[in-house]
Amino acid sequence: MDGVQNVPRAGIIELVFGEPDPALLPVTEIRRACAAALDGGRTAALPYGANEGPPELRRLIAARIAATEDRKVPEGEIAITGGNSLAFDQVLTRFTTPGDTVLVELPTYILALGIVRDHHVDLEAVPVDDDGLDVVVLERILDALALAGRRARLLYTIPTFQNPTGTCLSAARRRRLVELAAAHDLLIVEDDVYRELVYDGVAPPSLWSIAPVATVLRLGSFAKTIAPGLRVGWLNGSATQVEHFAAAGFVDSGGCPSHFSASVVACYLEGGGYPARVERLRSEYRARRDALAAALTEHLPPGSSFVVPGGGFFIWVTLPEGLTASALLPVAERHGVSFVPAAQAMLNGDDGALRLAFSMYPPAQLAEGAKRLGAALGSFSAGR
Ligand SMILES: Cc1ncc(COP(=O)(O)O)c(C=O)c1O
Repeated sequence: MDGVQNVPRAGIIELVFGEPDPALLPVTEIRRACAAALDGGRTAALPYGANEGPPELRRLIAARIAATEDRKVPEGEIAITGGNSLAFDQVLTRFTTPGDTVLVELPTYILALGIVRDHHVDLEAVPVDDDGLDVVVLERILDALALAGRRARLLYTIPTFQNPTGTCLSAARRRRLVELAAAHDLLIVEDDVYRELVYDGVAPPSLWSIAPVATVLRLGSFAKTIAPGLRVGWLNGSATQVEHFAAAGFVDSGGCPSHFSASVVACYLEGGGYPARVERLRSEYRARRDALAAALTEHLPPGSSFVVPGGGFFIWVTLPEGLTASALLPVAERHGVSFVPAAQAMLNGDDGALRLAFSMYPPAQLAEGAKRLGAALGSFSAGR
């Protein structure tokens, strides 16, 4: 496991890591796709690539979007990226200037906060509730900024199977959000990394697909559905935005940042196994979600609550009144289970909830993790 980002500690069920189970990574298929990318002396994968990424991968992504989201996308509205993290960093570089106001929903993807902080922008929070980002508060913030002669340049949001809360932005709020963005010239960055991992029905339409052109940059990634180590994703925006994104100095110098991996992903998608793989992941992760939710219902003390997410990797547990997740964590780890305390995903110190990831362990271990969490909560409350 040397060099791997997240290594489980002995004796601890790490419900911390929001990433695919290594046992589900498509090693054989990727080996085959690598061979295909280099097959018969084909060299297209090895020289510098096009700024916007390999044309065949852009075509294949357009075909997947047409099949799953019922939307025709010209290739000019797709750029291949090195995954959502790098793409978000590039978007901040290309579409903001230092000192701009950037809005982030809270709680949010913890590591996105680090990406924003690298850009010397003013960060302002918009709260999330069970229906996703609170558009009434957003409107109040936008109006207050306008009154002060300022405006927010960009909003980062994860409207579908949010990390960390698992929530989906409601249909009414989706419509209101894109209206507000268009009215206030606010660029929405929609992190859509969990769209394919839907366990009940279909995922709601993306903000990008319902918004006026150039209002939303949508970031998609193969990190959760193929493999995070490949570092391949894509960006959807208007043709002008895509051109601007792909004209960054370092891209102009070196080409698409993941050209080799992107060529491998193209060969993998061409092989035709991707839709079946997504179906298999859905049924694996659905079973894990169900196992964790059932065990939490059994073991959490009264006063705790959670909403079963329709997709993604996370269950967000609200703790009984007065308990804080950061104080609970060392007790939980002594009981052999770990999680992410809410405070890490917030800016205001709120810590009355915790995030559990169900992607890394099979159902029986998830159930054991929930049991240990229940026991930790029992002893934590008793010791107060
Ligand atoms: C909301 C969100 N965005 C982005 C990422 C990382 O995406 P990528 O691997 O494509 O950089 C994650 C992974 O945990 C995530 O949860």
